[in-house]
Amino acid sequence: MANSFLVTTAIPEPGLQLLSDAGRVTVLPEPPGYDALAALCASGDYDVVLTQLRDVIDAPLLAAARLKGVSNFAVGYNNIDVGAATRRGILVGNTPGVLTDATADIAMLLILGTARRVVEADRLVRDGKFLGWEPELLLGRDVSGAVLGLAGFGRIARATARRALGFGMEVLFAPRPPGDRPVSEAELGEFAGKVRQVPWDELVARSDFLSLHVPLNYQTRHLVDAAVLARMKPDAILINTARGPIVHEDALVDALRNGTIAGAGLDVFEDEPKLAPGLAELPNTVLLPHVGSATVPVRSEMARLSAVNAVAIAEGRTPPHPVNHLAKA
Ligand code: DGY
Repeated sequence: MANSFLVTTAIPEPGLQLLSDAGRVTVLPEPPGYDALAALCASGDYDVVLTQLRDVIDAPLLAAARLKGVSNFAVGYNNIDVGAATRRGILVGNTPGVLTDATADIAMLLILGTARRVVEADRLVRDGKFLGWEPELLLGRDVSGAVLGLAGFGRIARATARRALGFGMEVLFAPRPPGDRPVSEAELGEFAGKVRQVPWDELVARSDFLSLHVPLNYQTRHLVDAAVLARMKPDAILINTARGPIVHEDALVDALRNGTIAGAGLDVFEDEPKLAPGLAELPNTVLLPHVGSATVPVRSEMARLSAVNAVAIAEGRTPPHPVNHLAKA
């Protein structure tokens, strides 16, 4: 029988073509709700489902699923209960590597955009309120010489460090907050002597810009809560290009309102696409609609990787980018 793929939301080429070359493809006309997706996964009509990060693939859905695999169109896979998938003999794939630089660009953009008040400045011009050069119009802060604290030190954090060093920032990192693990000189590689590891508490207290680059899991959910925000400098800025629930968004709104911290640059939100009440009204924020990986070449590569993962799983091979491994029968 031909391979059969369920695609929950149309993906760019060459993704759909690669899937069509390998079997039958069903692209849903609109993103499915949880129950509809669960029913489709349980139908036995599909070998592999190609999911987006808003598709919740949890243990109850997987318990009833008749699938060989789930191929996520994302590097993050917090939407999938990977443990439950493994127990059910269902392979999971993701799209690592291809969105590293694009996402680090967005982190840098948020650092610069918050520091130099780009949203306020743009609005002022559009509102016809730019009346000519003024010595004290929209004064921001310097990025060069400022301390960038990286929570996490994986691919995207490193790519952000590379950019920040180019802007003359001092870069500190805590590799696996809230816990610590020592990173050796060998592991630091090109960054040896250029960036410095500090404990998470010190990172929080010393950062002028605290940028989050950790996966979302039970340890990092609400990693940045009211207590952490209270330990940040009053002129610090929080940057999040990772996952929204790493930050307690209501606590962040309070902290921004009360001057506990000075600003936030966010590409992700706790309950996407909703924003915490009050967040959108705060002038000291730059808010983006989860566009870290949103360039034409990157989304095309993500489509390719997610499709080759799906085809490999459907054909009984290990996907090139596996998230889990199944015990041999
Ligand atoms: C990912 O891949 O995890 C991003 O959040 C979306 O591209």
